[in-house]
Amino acid sequence: MKDHVLSFLLNRVTPSIVKAEGIYLYDNRGNRIIDASGGAIVCSIGHGVEEIVETASEQMKRVAFLFRRAFRTSELEEAAAKVCDTTHGDMDRVFFVSGGSEATETAIKLARKFHIDNANPSKFRVISRWQSYHGSTMGAASWSGFTSRRADFTPYLKDFVHLPPTYCYRCWYGKAPETCHLECAQALENEILCLGPDTVSAYIAEPVSGHSLAAAFPPDEHFKRIREICDQYDVLMILDEVISGVGRTGKWYAYQYHDVIPDIIALAKGLSAGYFPVGAAVVRAKIHDTIANKSGVFGSGHTYGGNPVAASVVCRVIDYLKEHRLVERCAEMGNYLADKLETLRSHPSVGDIRGKGLQRGVEFVRDKETKAPLDPQIHFSQQIQDEALLRGVHIESSFGCDRGQAGDMIIFGPPFIITKAQIDDLIAVIDETISFVEKKIGF
Ligand SMILES: Cc1ncc(COP(=O)(O)O)c(C=O)c1O
Repeated sequence: MKDHVLSFLLNRVTPSIVKAEGIYLYDNRGNRIIDASGGAIVCSIGHGVEEIVETASEQMKRVAFLFRRAFRTSELEEAAAKVCDTTHGDMDRVFFVSGGSEATETAIKLARKFHIDNANPSKFRVISRWQSYHGSTMGAASWSGFTSRRADFTPYLKDFVHLPPTYCYRCWYGKAPETCHLECAQALENEILCLGPDTVSAYIAEPVSGHSLAAAFPPDEHFKRIREICDQYDVLMILDEVISGVGRTGKWYAYQYHDVIPDIIALAKGLSAGYFPVGAAVVRAKIHDTIANKSGVFGSGHTYGGNPVAASVVCRVIDYLKEHRLVERCAEMGNYLADKLETLRSHPSVGDIRGKGLQRGVEFVRDKETKAPLDPQIHFSQQIQDEALLRGVHIESSFGCDRGQAGDMIIFGPPFIITKAQIDDLIAVIDETISFVEKKIGF
């Protein structure tokens, strides 16, 4: 049969999956694959959870679709309340969308709308960072700093400001943890002052990076300094928790590691654990109240935003996480995975291991001493992904952490239900795979 699928990699035919259960995928050739990246760091509660399927199916039978502007369902109200509850009351209102890119677009629009209604209509600029990822729609790609995903579409992107990344392993300021004075946080103030504080609307960042830096985690105090700067210049602090949110780092939200409260968080992925396309921009009360009390309109949204089936799934996934204490389990299994990953350091190509909870990354290098990256032509991390798959593990590879030009990474994001024995199996395969690829390229 002729292939009519237009794929991400057009000249590759990916395995066809016929069943997914727990941490495993099963392809049409009878192979069992450990889903070590939970899809794209999505599947937190594991595959094939019957009660989520039933929830979605029952909701579809009751009301499958409504248009948000005209109607709502009790499930939508409940989902919003449950999301706010997981922030322990830090956040007050939820605008549901259909995915992560829409969530960051909505967050940026809400920030702009807040300033307009707060009598500061000159504030519109967005500041973000290089080597960040906030989605692939044109707006989201504009404030993303994921060089390889921007390159082909640059003519369509808006010219937003990107600060140096929060990336301690290759600090752009040449600092080591002992000599760090939070230079990359301070860069935000410098940029705001140069642009003019009356023009800057929002700062957006990932509290733990995703595919662009493979789980880079900022130093202590980084986000506290960011919060101070945002407060000083009336710039809204948006944290993109599309990957890190809803338990992935071992807390409900990664911002909870930093003793700060952002103004807006963007969510997707783990919000439905992959059972339905959903995302959300979640705001503090002051954002909602300012808009509600002034214009009363947030003229944004997509047809499927606020979908009743999505709302039901969100409710059930949050309940499921709580009933099975899966966020706590994620923290515990995250520590176990971190210990196991450390054993990979003996490989000459393993330069750095980083992350939080079950969001972990490995960066590969040609030379550990100098941190020189591997030749991009080798496609080292893609080879790791391909070879691991042949050995029964799906691991997401990524590229470009070294200023977009080089830098091979793999990123782990297994379901929170993974067991210690399954982590052992997974690491054994990754260990063997790294040895194989190292040997193949002549390390
Ligand atoms: C941090 C972050 N933000 C936004 C997005 C975009 O989400 P989506 O692919 O659902 O549009 C992603 C996707 O990987 C992400 O990792």
